Amino acid sequence: MKTKLLRRDFFKKIFAGTLVFLIPTFVKKAIARQKDHAPLLSKSNNETLKTIHSLRTIHGNFKDQPISQGNLDTILQASIQAPSGSALQTYSIIVIKDREKMKRICGYQGAALLLYCVDYNRLIASAKSLGHSYNPDGMQIYITGTTNTILAVQTAVIAAKALGIDSLTTNGIHRGDMQRVWDEVELPEKHCFPLIALVLGYPTEEPKYHKGRLDGPGVFHNEKYHLPTKEELAEITRKYDDDELHIRLSDDWKADHDHYLDWLFTKRFSRFSKPISKETQAFKMLKRGRFVDMQNS
Ligand SMILES: Cc1cc2nc3c(=O)[nH]c(=O)nc-3n(C[C@H](O)[C@H](O)[C@H](O)COP(=O)(O)O)c2cc1C
Repeated sequence: MKTKLLRRDFFKKIFAGTLVFLIPTFVKKAIARQKDHAPLLSKSNNETLKTIHSLRTIHGNFKDQPISQGNLDTILQASIQAPSGSALQTYSIIVIKDREKMKRICGYQGAALLLYCVDYNRLIASAKSLGHSYNPDGMQIYITGTTNTILAVQTAVIAAKALGIDSLTTNGIHRGDMQRVWDEVELPEKHCFPLIALVLGYPTEEPKYHKGRLDGPGVFHNEKYHLPTKEELAEITRKYDDDELHIRLSDDWKADHDHYLDWLFTKRFSRFSKPISKETQAFKMLKRGRFVDMQNS
């Protein structure tokens, strides 16, 4: 009887020892496998990644259905969690619920429009209130300002999607007479530039497909810059033509062009076939806003 118990005890110890050895090895291997296949994470159950991979643009077909004030506040609070240079949050976010005003400002309507402006006026006023002078002039300031602003925009897009709210990011504000945007919401002329409009809402219909993305050479570079080779460019052209990948913006090219990119550069972007020779409206507005290096203009 005693021998039997001793033998059982012996086998128990061997089994436990094997587990102690095997479990860390198994966990380590699983982690290594996950690292090797990082792109597969996009298909994982990670809620943040699932939200990012479910992002899509609703091209203006939003229901006339409001977003609750609670959700709007949550989106705004999430938006300002984005990083900003020197923690300065150099933007203003104008919340617009008047649908007609939305249309006039950006050409689209949804439940709400968040107009994101690069804006240094709050900081200038703070400095002045304390008897200091602060002149955020020039392009370096503008680049940092736009970076801070656009990070806040995309953070809002992700937060909205996490709440089941779709969006459209649009530069429709820069089409036509740009002064209208300043007039509609009474923006300061100096040190303020309406950068992008974010329309939020619920779609009237589901998009037919989820847009794909170009990846690989020309997008990702290893250690140093690499302009795609002739073969890689041919592959890029093919990917845009591929009906399964849905990388392109539209199917309008199919009737008259060999490739989508032929249509893109000759029809859609025909105005970019020659270098710009005179001051554009955007340049004038940026100059008025003091965001252009004056010695160069
Ligand atoms: C700067 C910018 C401007 C855009 N302007 C418009 C626009 O005016 N109208 C529109 O329908 N979509 C606009 N879009 C959305 C893009 O067309 C869209 O992101 C792209 O086709 C990829 O589609 P997806 O977001 O559904 O993946 C804009 C996006 C960005 C980032």
